[in-house]
Amino acid sequence: MISLQVNFTQTLAKRSGFLTEADIVDFEGEILAHNQCLHDKTGKGYEFLGWQTLPSDISEEELQKLETVATHIQNTADILVVVGIGGSYLGARAVIDALSHHFSAMLSKTERQAPLVIYAGQNICADYLTDLQGILKNKSYAVAVISKSGTTTEPALAFRMLKKDLEERYGKDGAKDRIVAITDARKGALRKLADQEGYQTFDIADDIGGRFSVLTPVGLLPIAAAGFDIRQLVEGAKAMQEFTDTEIDLAKNPISQYAAVRNALYRKGKKIEILAGYHPRLQYFIEWWKQLYGESEGKEHKGIFPAGVNFTTDLHSMGQLIQDGERSIFETVISVGKPTQDMTIEKEKANLDKLNYLARKTIGEVNHMAEKGTMLAHVEGGVPNIRIEIPEITPYTLGQLIYFFEKACAVSGYILNVNPFDQPGVEAYKSNMFALLGKPGFEDKTQKLLARLG
Ligand code: PA5
Repeated sequence: MISLQVNFTQTLAKRSGFLTEADIVDFEGEILAHNQCLHDKTGKGYEFLGWQTLPSDISEEELQKLETVATHIQNTADILVVVGIGGSYLGARAVIDALSHHFSAMLSKTERQAPLVIYAGQNICADYLTDLQGILKNKSYAVAVISKSGTTTEPALAFRMLKKDLEERYGKDGAKDRIVAITDARKGALRKLADQEGYQTFDIADDIGGRFSVLTPVGLLPIAAAGFDIRQLVEGAKAMQEFTDTEIDLAKNPISQYAAVRNALYRKGKKIEILAGYHPRLQYFIEWWKQLYGESEGKEHKGIFPAGVNFTTDLHSMGQLIQDGERSIFETVISVGKPTQDMTIEKEKANLDKLNYLARKTIGEVNHMAEKGTMLAHVEGGVPNIRIEIPEITPYTLGQLIYFFEKACAVSGYILNVNPFDQPGVEAYKSNMFALLGKPGFEDKTQKLLARLG
């Protein structure tokens, strides 16, 4: 059953003047063709379309293996360090943060009923790694090292440090028991190392790119180890997969509608899409979405710029620009029906803060009114508003959201006529960094870059 709904009323409202029904219907034929292309695997990047059927393809055997390894991590370690960058960590973090206690780091393992998940290999910061080393000193930890290519610098550097530490503490065999590698089935340095050391491994299929891999072991293993229900996550994604099948036409397909609306707005000069949440636990879901859309669409000097905000926090910073800055923005809100736990505001005798008018209302209701008030203000200020509504944040609704955004991203990329599944632009910084660091094979570039640096 699908509980996610997309609401375009504030973009289509007559008086808002942003879009008309006709602007959306204009995309019908094009989107039908793109959906068919995705289904037939005949479009750009056709060799990376395995994510489309992941929810329905995942086997009971794979789920059981994931749960068994996750249970082993839970029984062995108080902390799980997820080592990866980009698509190799953002999906796991998006879901884990969305489902976790806000202060999970301050809970005991018994209270959490699972290890604390922390992250490494997503930056090259010496202070970060030093602090990590420090906090792990007297802790029992395990490592999930995740890299499809197996050669990415950031996770490789962090893993080198963690592997050495685990081996010094527990010996080779003890370390092996605490390391899981998720990587290509055959290629790459990590695969070679994992086979050589005898680590527990999970494969990343050739036809699934990093940012579309949250429903593979890349996301599912850390999520399961953090104690969350990966079956419900997959079920939610599967429900969305079935609901938005290739034959479903625009009028009934929320994915096609979202892709059409955002592209119609883009063509009318709305070059920036801001994904907004009203729950701090969605912060990393928004980060995951930014990567998905930024890396998939930003090509050939085209692409909607994906930005993210966490309201109401950011209403006191970015709110000014959204309300009043250059009118090149549209806003997509992840609107959550109700918080997992609510809290009633009490009356207070002194009422110095003048908040007694809120007595007996809940914090959830206040947040909702902030959301509605903001939407109306932003629409009034010239910012079209799309609402993606879910009843609450659960593994099932997150699964729906994940599949919804992935498929809409693929369709949107095709509307832009780019390959949504490659990332050639990411190589530019890497080859400069390698040349500046003196990596063998990059010698020609080194002198030119040093001259440019002056
Ligand atoms: O989406 C992508 O493909 C990238 O963000 C990759 O996930 C990221 O660069 C990490 O790559 P790898 O998993 O090969 O270490």
